[in-house]
Amino acid sequence: MPVLRSFFIALSHNRALRRFSEHSMVGKRLSSRFIAGMEIDDALRVAEEVNKQGISVTLDSLGESVTSEAEAKAAADVYHKLLDAIAARKLNANISMKLTQMGLNLSRPLAESIAESVVQHAGKTGSFVRIDMEDSSLTQVTMDIVEQLHAKPALREAVGIVIQAYLFRSQKDIEELIANGIRVRLCKGAYQEPAELAFPRKADVDASYIKLANMLLDSPDYHGLATHDDTMVAAAKNYAKEHGIERHHFEFQMLYGIRRDLQRKLVEEGYNVRVYVPFGNEWYPYFMRRLAERPANVLFLAKNFFRF
Ligand code: FDA
Repeated sequence: MPVLRSFFIALSHNRALRRFSEHSMVGKRLSSRFIAGMEIDDALRVAEEVNKQGISVTLDSLGESVTSEAEAKAAADVYHKLLDAIAARKLNANISMKLTQMGLNLSRPLAESIAESVVQHAGKTGSFVRIDMEDSSLTQVTMDIVEQLHAKPALREAVGIVIQAYLFRSQKDIEELIANGIRVRLCKGAYQEPAELAFPRKADVDASYIKLANMLLDSPDYHGLATHDDTMVAAAKNYAKEHGIERHHFEFQMLYGIRRDLQRKLVEEGYNVRVYVPFGNEWYPYFMRRLAERPANVLFLAKNFFRF
């Protein structure tokens, strides 16, 4: 399976296939398994439907590694529109965004100022911005920018970060974030990382996830545990129960279209659940990372393709 994982992650960087897929009807049809649609209205409609099931939402306007300032500003505009729409429609939703979508690969000050304007807007409308974590070359700069934003009193309630359990450095990062009162989403990690930086074996990633999740559960702030893994979910539930941690002290997070059964079950049991709803034309790298996580999805998609 690690070979297939690497294969799909390598494909996620293939520009020709990306161009073809994002512009073809077949590609759009296949991607609809994991993507809410191409337009803001598609995402808002899905968010409303998900909210009706008692599940909160984080909206992700897909895109990463922009190549011009104009693209970064256009990406930020979409987030500003989303924040206004969330407030106007009173959705139980926040937003997730990537710093490379805000121009981090072009210029750090550009990404910082765009991210700050979006977080400021979220603060004013009572929403929240989760800064997604990208590959390990960006971990430190992402930590730095989020800590910088969080240090501004007007922004501190409105910004949080993502930490990946597969990185060796994550325990130290989580200690630092907890000490600063910064809200964390913990995930396993979706990129291809070298063995010097990340646990290559799933069993070690899982053990790290459980250890870090327990640290977050013990901390006074509200964090998100992002996983579809029954074992991780059971471990968090047990730890919380054994340590008298209330169900509403944290939330489980899952991706749109994945493990809907588990999402429903957790809501019925009284846990907070949030679904990550991605939308937009630039779905290809996100979609390929979902196939990398579970190559069986390729078979699933093939079987269901003619039944849409
Ligand atoms: P794992 O991959 O071990 O899978 C456990 C089980 O979950 C599988 O056996 C299967 O049943 C189900 N499952 C998992 N993935 C599936 C898929 N694609 N399709 C169908 N079933 C699947 N990563 C990152 O690097 N930076 C980030 O910012 C984020 N953000 C983020 C937000 C949210 C809300 C979630 C849920 C995930 C992320 N991730 C992420 C992705 C994360 O790092 C990880 O790659 C996936 O969540 C898969 O890991 P699991 O914990 O689900 O376990």
